[in-house]
Amino acid sequence: MEKFVINGRRALNGDVYISGSKNAAVAVIPATILVDGECRIENVPDIGDVKILVDVLISMGAEVRFEDRNTLVINTRNINSHIVTYEMVKYLRASYYLIGALLGKFKQASVPFPGGCDFGHRPIDQHIKGFEALGAQVDIEHGIITAKARELKGCSIYLDIVSVGATINLMLAAVKAEGTTVIENAAKEPHVVDVANFLNAMGANIRGAGTDVIKIKGVDRLKGGATHTIIPDQIEAGTFMIASAAAGGCVTVKNIIPKHMESLTAKLTEMGIRVDEVEDSLRVWGNDKILKANIKTLPYPGFPTDLHPQMAALLCKAEGTSTITEGVWDSRFQYVDEIKRMGAIMKVEGRMAVIEGAVNLTGAPAKATDLRAGAALVIAGLIAKGTTQVHNVYYIDRGYEDMEIKFRQLGADIKRVRV
Ligand code: EPU
Repeated sequence: MEKFVINGRRALNGDVYISGSKNAAVAVIPATILVDGECRIENVPDIGDVKILVDVLISMGAEVRFEDRNTLVINTRNINSHIVTYEMVKYLRASYYLIGALLGKFKQASVPFPGGCDFGHRPIDQHIKGFEALGAQVDIEHGIITAKARELKGCSIYLDIVSVGATINLMLAAVKAEGTTVIENAAKEPHVVDVANFLNAMGANIRGAGTDVIKIKGVDRLKGGATHTIIPDQIEAGTFMIASAAAGGCVTVKNIIPKHMESLTAKLTEMGIRVDEVEDSLRVWGNDKILKANIKTLPYPGFPTDLHPQMAALLCKAEGTSTITEGVWDSRFQYVDEIKRMGAIMKVEGRMAVIEGAVNLTGAPAKATDLRAGAALVIAGLIAKGTTQVHNVYYIDRGYEDMEIKFRQLGADIKRVRV
């Protein structure tokens, strides 16, 4: 077990380079199952969730080699099983992508019900509805989801709720189906587009990703042989932007797609924080005077739910009372009790966090309850007076490459300590 120890109140200055997108990588890696040839994937983040998926593919018979820390070459031609065991994926939410990929390849899949962070109820009914519309029979027994089809046939699927996971999973299952599949009310997140681009580079025919109607013309095979570069991580970039705004100083967040950051940039600007766009970077200027804000998280291009806890940490410094309404998950407020240990004044009313501003946080021991809650505690530690210990760092390592090293390079006093 490890913890971060942070001595707060150091301004952040300099450049930070953003890694590849976690939520794109955890879909692209299972997607390689559908490809007959070799796939070369660049800008893969070196994070816990990627390591788990690589181990899953290897245990299923895939050849995987790292050309360097962030470049993976995967060949799945020797995978001959459609079965994934609980032990392989118990900590991984994105294990659901193995269902779509295995179903697409073998017309059958047997995968444990997904694990991952706890945000209350996490149904996958829209994934199942889509698999069934494509012609699969889906059963859940003893914690295992089995999907089986004689033929997968293109169809029209209207998602009742905008779901990133269901949108990507149905692209995976439909990419080699007979005929055309249309996904309506599809998620528009940048990583949905990235997965479609990866599949197209390997020989798929997917149009419309990034809009709410995606059309997938089934192809006989994905021949592979191409290189795909994972997009920059929108949420890692947002975490560093928020941290910079909170800690003061001037940080240039590099190697990003500024367009993906628009909802955050607009909100920070509204709060009186200067953000300049410079090519593939955003420069954030910390400010002692931060204005209160009301935020509602929504599917892309709305404000991302995965930046909700980090934003709550920043709003402790704002003048007046702010609110964050969670519009995606039933419950994403586990961070509240932990950040309150540091003196934050917050309460949860239904799906809304009410945050009193102008509070002087003080360092304290606290524990990450999930990935983004962990990031919020690190930000709180950076602005708090004295020493903060953030426990359960493994949550943070699931989704951030070298978080503490990147903060240290910006001038933070943060170190990783064995407990
Ligand atoms: N939902 C349903 N039925 C479904 C699927 C989803 O009701 O079949 C609901 C969910 O309960 C939720 C909403 O739809 O209320 C959105 O869920 P979505 O399916 O979009 O989420 P996900 O695919 O499980 C991904 C990210 C999450 C991120 C959400 C929302 C991955 C591996 N995970 O989850 O990322 O919060 O989209 O953007 O891509 C994180 O990175 O910290 C993280 C939790």
